[in-house]
Amino acid sequence: MSDIGAIQTRLVNDIAAASDLDAVEALRVAALGKAGSITALLKSLGGMTPEDRQAQGPQIHALREAVTAALAERKAALDAAALDIKLAAEAIDMSLPADTAPKGSVHPVSQVMDELAEIFADMGFAVATGPEIEDDWHNFTALNMDETHPARAMHDTFYFPDRTPASSSAAVGQQQREILLRTHTSPVQIRSMLDQGAPIRIIAPGRVYRSDSDATHTPMFHQVEGLVIDKDIHLGHLKWTLETFFKAFFEREDITLRLRPSYFPFTEPSVEVDVGYSTEGGRRVVGGHGDAPGHAWMELGGSGMVNARVLEFAGLDPAEWQGFAFGLGIDRIAMLKYGMNDLRAFFDGDPRWLAHYGFSPFDQPTLSAGVGAKA
Ligand code: PHE
Repeated sequence: MSDIGAIQTRLVNDIAAASDLDAVEALRVAALGKAGSITALLKSLGGMTPEDRQAQGPQIHALREAVTAALAERKAALDAAALDIKLAAEAIDMSLPADTAPKGSVHPVSQVMDELAEIFADMGFAVATGPEIEDDWHNFTALNMDETHPARAMHDTFYFPDRTPASSSAAVGQQQREILLRTHTSPVQIRSMLDQGAPIRIIAPGRVYRSDSDATHTPMFHQVEGLVIDKDIHLGHLKWTLETFFKAFFEREDITLRLRPSYFPFTEPSVEVDVGYSTEGGRRVVGGHGDAPGHAWMELGGSGMVNARVLEFAGLDPAEWQGFAFGLGIDRIAMLKYGMNDLRAFFDGDPRWLAHYGFSPFDQPTLSAGVGAKA
């Protein structure tokens, strides 16, 4: 119909002549808005006879499409022109000082992990890793914690609903395994022994998970595992290793360790490792003998000689090989060394806390320069 053709010509010409974005918008509302002329034509289709609708429908829809396209084209042209004007008007002042990019910092936990690795590397230890999503065989069974061990309970351990193993280790019989978040770094002992055999000298720092949350416990925290397997290894080696580590880590010679008899299913005998400390200005300071006046003992971790059953689970002959293992809480030794008092702040991600306690990425711990980084 020619009157629709005329409408289209007029509208498209008006749009092409629109001088700014407001004018384009006004034309859009007049044509396609709620009370717009094309909207009215579209509405009129409903009242037509089927024959009229068949004849006029396609023309009215084509009109709407042509006008919509014209609007978009004019808008794009006006936008481009506006940008050209802006670019021509704006000059870049090369004499202005550059914005400095915001600087991140190294989290104290990462810093302490680097310090650990540096100190233990000097004693001949390699860094080993294992998955945080573990199966119950590596996390419990092979560590001599049988089916009924209380630490396996749901209220201590996070289980996954899916029971299919994430990674199946060929060395192990294939019963169905429970999948869980590892509750300690000790499964890395098993994986290292199965992977590389003996002798072995590794540390394994990383995240561990327990269903626990209050002022001194978070559901995720960090441990470092240590494992030495060789011939003729005894508790004296363990004590020397930990003492040497703590002296380097806390950067003082007067470190006194106390090994207290304890129990872990995966070590025999087992000892808890305490360190002497005093309190200065409300802050715990490691050093001195725990029984000296003004001093006390603080537990830093567990350790012992690797249980013969664990060696067998890990494919080693206990008549030939023996060794020690230890597990320390990284967050705790970080708090002690750098004087933080609230564990939860470690995992809140508050940038102000990180700016205060974080470390410069350039402050790499080295034994020659002192592993303690300057914040
Ligand atoms: N895995 C123990 C824990 O998480 C610590 C430990 C490690 C004890 C190695 C003995 C030997 O409590």
